[in-house]
Amino acid sequence: MKKIILTGDRPTGRLHIGHYVGSLRRRVELQNSGEFDKIFIMIADAQALTDNADNPEKVRQNILEVAMDYMSCGLDPEKSTLFIQSQVSELTELSFFYMNLVTVQRLQRNPTVKQEIAARGFSESEGDENANKKGIPTGFFTYPISQAADITAFKATVVPVGEDQEPMIEQTREIVRKFNSTYGETLVEPEIMLPSNAACLRLPGTDGKAKMSKSLGNCIYLSDSAEEVQKKVKGMFTDPGHLQVSDPGKVEGNTVFTYLDAFCKDEHFEKFGSCFVGKKVSFDFKNLDEVKAQYRAGGLGDMMIKNFLTAVINDTLEPIRARRKELEKNIPYVYEVLKKGSEVAQKEAAATLADVKRAMKINYFEEGTLEELIKEQEEKYK
Ligand code: TRP
Repeated sequence: MKKIILTGDRPTGRLHIGHYVGSLRRRVELQNSGEFDKIFIMIADAQALTDNADNPEKVRQNILEVAMDYMSCGLDPEKSTLFIQSQVSELTELSFFYMNLVTVQRLQRNPTVKQEIAARGFSESEGDENANKKGIPTGFFTYPISQAADITAFKATVVPVGEDQEPMIEQTREIVRKFNSTYGETLVEPEIMLPSNAACLRLPGTDGKAKMSKSLGNCIYLSDSAEEVQKKVKGMFTDPGHLQVSDPGKVEGNTVFTYLDAFCKDEHFEKFGSCFVGKKVSFDFKNLDEVKAQYRAGGLGDMMIKNFLTAVINDTLEPIRARRKELEKNIPYVYEVLKKGSEVAQKEAAATLADVKRAMKINYFEEGTLEELIKEQEEKYK
């Protein structure tokens, strides 16, 4: 069986370093591993619209941001198909058929959607503009089904995503099994691929809150300047009990260390060891474990670690920023990539949709089918 990847992001903002460690970095590695027959990277504008119906302009603007973030991280249009979800109308058709295989009750159990409903203030009750209550948009409620369409349309075998997407992949797998058992073996059941490093599963915001999110204002963006990164790291949440440099500090739940777990490599100590040379105390750390041990023992100040973290993040982001600058000067190229990619994706999805319609026997006018259908019906009226 072919090895095929499909994954993507909603274009509701620029991508941040949580996206990077949670999935972008992995995608690039997978792309360059040469192990996959096809790779599809989708900008999920239609899904973004399910809770942004009143703001299509925001989504439209961010398609380009996300595309440039993708390519500056190393996603290569020669190796991966980058495309825009709304331009592949077959996906909505597939969703419509899959809807019949999923109950309302099943959708209501989806923990990620539940959290998102709470976060967006969509109340459970019917929307009532006067009472200032927002109901749940039906499109939003059903987006896990549309996500199953995204994945199955490309016969994806592997979906590299963050932990919050687990319920969507599970829902997809259920739809595939239901479809295949009802209509015959047609769709491919995908596997989820999660980040292997726990710190990357869900990078907290700079304020220590569970998730980086634009609305919380706690993100470091891939396109942030070196100065912005420095400022954000400076203001970062650490161990509130670590008041004096001499105090023993906690590493667990300390955002600075979570970020180091996600970004830091041993070679960074050769490059940026000078961050740990001070007027009063100096350290010669070789790896992150030594830093942690010293922090726990006391005597290592937050400022030194923050300076080091700033250097590490900027070192990671520098080549990404440089590529982005180039792309910003070549907007026609970026749109050309998306246009071509969307055409390729559309053809793939059309082939799957044809399989689906054939399996469901709703391919009435397909070559050969109509003749049979006529014969069958004529028999009935003889
Ligand atoms: N739900 C994903 C997100 O929030 C975006 C997405 C849409 C997606 N369809 C997908 C991810 C299919 C993986 C596979 O960013």
